[in-house]
Amino acid sequence: MIYINEDKKVFHLQTDNTSYIIRILPSSHLGQVYYGEILDVNHDTENLKPKHDIEVGSQVIYDENDKTFNLNLAFLEMPTYGKGDFREPMLHFRFSDGSRTSDFLYLKHEVVAKPVFKEMPETKAYKDEIETLIITMRDNVKNVEVDLHYSVFRHQDVIVRRVVIRNESENSLILEKALSMNFDTFSDNYQLTTFEGAWIRERMINKRVVEQGIIKIDSKKGVSSADHNPFIIISKDETNEMYGKCFGFGLVYSGNFEAVIERSPFDLLRVQIGINSFDFYWELKKKEKFVTPEVVMSFSNKGLNTLSKNYHSLINNHIIKPDWAKKERPVLFNNWEATMFDFTQRKLIKLAKSAQKLGIELFVLDDGWFGNRNSDTAGLGDWYVNKKKLPLGISKLAEKINKLGMDFGIWVEPEMVNMDSDLYRLHPDWAIKHDDRDPSFGRNQLILDLTKEEVRNYLVKCISDLIESANIKYIKWDMNRSFSDIYSNSLDHNNQGKLVHLYQLGLYDILERLTTKHPEILFESCASGGNRFDMGMLYYMPQVWTSDNTDGYCRQLIQYGTSYGYPQSVMGAHVSDSPSAQVIRKTPLETRFNVAAFGLLGYEFDASTLSSFEKKVIKNQINFYKKHRKLLQFGEFHRIKNPFETNNMYIAVTSKDKKECILGVYKTLEQPNGTYEIIDMSMLDRNYTYKAENRKSYFNLNKFGYLVKHALPVKLNPNGVLFHILSKYYLYEIEKDEQIISGDKLVNNGFIPKQNFLGSGINDSIRLMGDFGSRLYYFKALEEENEKNN
Ligand code: GLA
Repeated sequence: MIYINEDKKVFHLQTDNTSYIIRILPSSHLGQVYYGEILDVNHDTENLKPKHDIEVGSQVIYDENDKTFNLNLAFLEMPTYGKGDFREPMLHFRFSDGSRTSDFLYLKHEVVAKPVFKEMPETKAYKDEIETLIITMRDNVKNVEVDLHYSVFRHQDVIVRRVVIRNESENSLILEKALSMNFDTFSDNYQLTTFEGAWIRERMINKRVVEQGIIKIDSKKGVSSADHNPFIIISKDETNEMYGKCFGFGLVYSGNFEAVIERSPFDLLRVQIGINSFDFYWELKKKEKFVTPEVVMSFSNKGLNTLSKNYHSLINNHIIKPDWAKKERPVLFNNWEATMFDFTQRKLIKLAKSAQKLGIELFVLDDGWFGNRNSDTAGLGDWYVNKKKLPLGISKLAEKINKLGMDFGIWVEPEMVNMDSDLYRLHPDWAIKHDDRDPSFGRNQLILDLTKEEVRNYLVKCISDLIESANIKYIKWDMNRSFSDIYSNSLDHNNQGKLVHLYQLGLYDILERLTTKHPEILFESCASGGNRFDMGMLYYMPQVWTSDNTDGYCRQLIQYGTSYGYPQSVMGAHVSDSPSAQVIRKTPLETRFNVAAFGLLGYEFDASTLSSFEKKVIKNQINFYKKHRKLLQFGEFHRIKNPFETNNMYIAVTSKDKKECILGVYKTLEQPNGTYEIIDMSMLDRNYTYKAENRKSYFNLNKFGYLVKHALPVKLNPNGVLFHILSKYYLYEIEKDEQIISGDKLVNNGFIPKQNFLGSGINDSIRLMGDFGSRLYYFKALEEENEKNN
């Protein structure tokens, strides 16, 4: 709801649990008053705002009539440079006369239904009605107007902001910095959490105290990047997953961004996020406008899980297109780790047959099917089938896969070109590079210049033709290099600063056209794994390949870190070989599944060489996943124990009515004679009685080695042939753990699984986890019991 007190010039934006209050200051600047727990609309806002009763020494006084006011100590919604605020500006201009001072004062406001901007991804109202407050600020000297948009997503406790800058003057101006928002507050023991990383190490949690000075995270890579994710959290020192105050700021954008956190010498905190101002300048001719990407802000006073829940709900209800938002995703098989570029139709069919027997629903053909693509040095750009590998073409291959009872999907990397390709030989000028310099390569490839309409049209046609040429149900859209040699021969020298943002708009244009034309296709975004994991891509593609790292332990960290800003319903998660190709670490097959189960499940290894043990185990996994798919993919996600800080990870999903829950328990290293594990289940309903049951899963006898003599009733030689054969077939079942527990007990005392192995022997009740061991527990509210209680 948006409440406006016209007399006091106060705007109160209310969500179900939060209030965001701004007001017009006596100077006519727009001031921030309050953001936090919900306040009554009639709350006296006077006592919330910072004020001075006397001039503060050595500040620039904005107006000689009021010596107590200076912009440097004000809480502002839209700071610019030149009138005494020495903190980071949100917008910065260079006018035609060379001056850079700007001063925006309140002009007008209106409340409208959320406006639609077609040029880039954005949160959509879809079914709900979303009110938007637009406050127009104006620089009266330079005739520039700025519309500040505030859209209120009540049920998600989210305020979405964006800015539209309009040049109403007769002269051109240069926009040097155009961030999407500014938030000022008192800096009161805040910590900043960001998500940093690299290829195969995406979104690692990085938490630090915010000291005086400026912290900036950004991307200059042309993608939002694995280096820093465009989602940040500010929280109080004492805040944890279940308790405490925290704010989130996430950008709906996939290109270069910056997030700035400044704590001034007066201990004021400033938070900003938007398009990276580095290497950005934008000429705004007369009457032109510039629209920034949206930023999604949320506040929780119930800890980080609630903050994440707000983002998960916003993404599932207002970012992902409605066709896909609630649609259960297929269990897929991808041939990449099994074959890389080395495959034939025969080999693929063999893989597909094996995959189908496991219960796979979608077979995905990865890189290498097109042009002269036998390695990553050639072929990108030539989106027609390689007849040497697939003589019957894609359509026939898809048919054969369909006959096996599976859907067919395919990999593309449209934004790129290899020099060794027909496309490059025909259009060398389509690549981003400067003619006077030898370009630098990333994975042997160059980036196509998506600012050019003919390039965009070519790509839309290629991918559309491909989709229409065969029964394709899924597309993995990859992007495998960062930008360099930034130069477009289609832009004049005044406009080169636009290139990286125009590229994004070009990409969005392609994706808009393709997804509108082919709404039935399930797109999965990928950029060497998670190099472009952001709400911008999610608007077009309802899932993202979370990371090229599928190691059973690394994935715990990656998915845990990712879960702060993004729901499990968008995270592609595959079970692949052990030892893993990324860290050569061995992890149990059951753990690799137990981790991938909290995402969109897939398998990625040579399915045709699986042992009988592995086949049985995998079939069992897929059955479990399908049975609980809705809960696993769309249930409410909870972080309980942090693998970055402890030797364990506990996570859970619950159904909306709390009648069902799946808990994941993961151990890094086995702890000898360890302590009890008590797992906080306060997210359940204390009024129910639950039956908790561990997922039936299996050990491979190999695990025991010499100790197999103690684990099995019969004596076996661990080096003998019999043991070798048995280990391929024999399913050694884990402990049985079935408990009936009252919700009260679970909520107040937690859940205690079966006793862990202590080195003193083993029986049916002992939970033998071992290094990288894990368990899934399924909780179900018992209907009869509950009826009795109610
Ligand atoms: C990237 C992707 C992988 C795979 C390869 C194919 O690295 O992240 O999953 O598709 O490209 O070249």
